[in-house]
Amino acid sequence: MPQIGFNRRDLVASALAAAGLAALSRPEPARAEGTELPMTPACEGRAAVTRRQTEGPYFTASSPLKRDLRGDGPGEMLVLSGFVLTPQCRPVGGALVDLWHANASGDYDNAGFLFRGHQFTDAQGRYQFITRMPGLYPGRTRHFHVKVRAGQGPVLTTQLYFPSEPGNARDGIFDRALLMDIRAAEGGRLGRFDFVIAA
Ligand SMILES: [Fe+2]
Repeated sequence: MPQIGFNRRDLVASALAAAGLAALSRPEPARAEGTELPMTPACEGRAAVTRRQTEGPYFTASSPLKRDLRGDGPGEMLVLSGFVLTPQCRPVGGALVDLWHANASGDYDNAGFLFRGHQFTDAQGRYQFITRMPGLYPGRTRHFHVKVRAGQGPVLTTQLYFPSEPGNARDGIFDRALLMDIRAAEGGRLGRFDFVIAA
């Protein structure tokens, strides 16, 4: 018998995704209290280009076109959303956003494409992944890896971090300019980060 309708996990994911999109429609992103984040680029003047970071040893080219990575393994759900913007804060539609990260146990899938996927921003410059919290592995704090590229322009390779993560202070690569805004939501977390790429 085919399953009809949504199960609870689907409903939670839909609610999280809707919340993420609702957050994107606000002029200023909601911020978790006490995170002391630098301001996400606002459209006043010129925004700083997102800082580059090392690719690390676990990038695999040609990830699948896929924004829902929940099926790649267990773990707490996280909806990661944001914009790709120019330094003048104009949205970049059709920009490639490629995400890869460790599973809940801290392992990368180096044989296949679990927790690896890419997508293209919509006309408003928005991207969104639904995934799981990345686990910890020795020597690093909790993080995502991302590549962003507009058209045939230069590739921005960077990493994203979690506020209030104990390992941040011990990680020599960690950069607080790359902290996501993280909010708790029913069934998981909402993450927000806007990428600013050189035109
Ligand atoms: Fe990594």
